[in-house]
Amino acid sequence: MIRVRDLHFAYDGREVLREIDLDMESEVVALVGQNGSGKTTLAKHLNGLLKPTKGSVEVDGLDTREHTVAELSRKVGYVFQNPEHMFFEETVFREVAFGPRNLGLDEDEVEKRVKWALRSVNLEGYEDRTPYSLSGGEKQRLAIACILAMKPRYLVLDEPTTGLDAKNGESVIRTIERLHSEGHGILLITHDMELVLRLAERVVLLHDGRKVFDGPVEEFFSLDLHDYGLDKPEVLLLGEVTGVGFVRSVSELVKALAGDGE
Ligand SMILES: Nc1ncnc2c1ncn2[C@@H]1O[C@H](COP(=O)(O)OP(=O)(O)OP(=O)(O)O)[C@@H](O)[C@H]1O
Ligand SMILES: [Mg+2]
Repeated sequence: MIRVRDLHFAYDGREVLREIDLDMESEVVALVGQNGSGKTTLAKHLNGLLKPTKGSVEVDGLDTREHTVAELSRKVGYVFQNPEHMFFEETVFREVAFGPRNLGLDEDEVEKRVKWALRSVNLEGYEDRTPYSLSGGEKQRLAIACILAMKPRYLVLDEPTTGLDAKNGESVIRTIERLHSEGHGILLITHDMELVLRLAERVVLLHDGRKVFDGPVEEFFSLDLHDYGLDKPEVLLLGEVTGVGFVRSVSELVKALAGDGE
């Protein structure tokens, strides 16, 4: 369980997070809010990259102030919003193998995990490439693979599908769904409200460093999102005007409408 209590955080004396309480277990929680509302800053507290100015963050009973990022990373995998500067190995294989090797796994298991992680993000066949030679979207997928290979209990994904094309975005989404079904807790930071609708069970909304909403996805979409610079997905508007009500996707809407006609 991740437990955040009365978290305040200031960069150089300027407070950007205030009074944040958050509990998270094995759900997909979407963390949303306008640019600069504090999403990335909050996410960096979960694996100890940042330490609270006031209040506390605990991961499975470990207070992040008393543990190193290396220790906490075994529990909370964090994929950066802009991962291009995080690579340091000479090949893609070694880059993805680094984490599992550090966990002390044997080479067979390391290889299995690397293969699985690269397949999950459509990077099979890239094993011998140097990370720096990859395109932006490929680097982003490599960063996700590096975290996947460690199979951490919790995953924090900071805008994982931004900048990916449809096919690769879809692979990442399927990977998130699979990890969730295997019992991992996932904090998904995104500006994509369709993705929130599709994947999230719960939504946490930040506004100016404060948590202003934390609840089920259906309730979230009944808020006046314009106040927070967010848009409602069109499929929800269609659900409303057709009288179907809350749906998560176009196919769900079509099914509901077809069912109505029977
Ligand atoms: N390293 C830093 N030093 C000083 N201020 C920072 C630093 N990083 C972020 N900030 C400030 O903290 C606030 C919150 O930033 P943060 O990156 O957490 O927002 P965000 O919600 O992730 O935004 P975005 O949607 O643009 O990614 C902003 O006002 C930002 O300018
Ligand atoms: Mg951010």
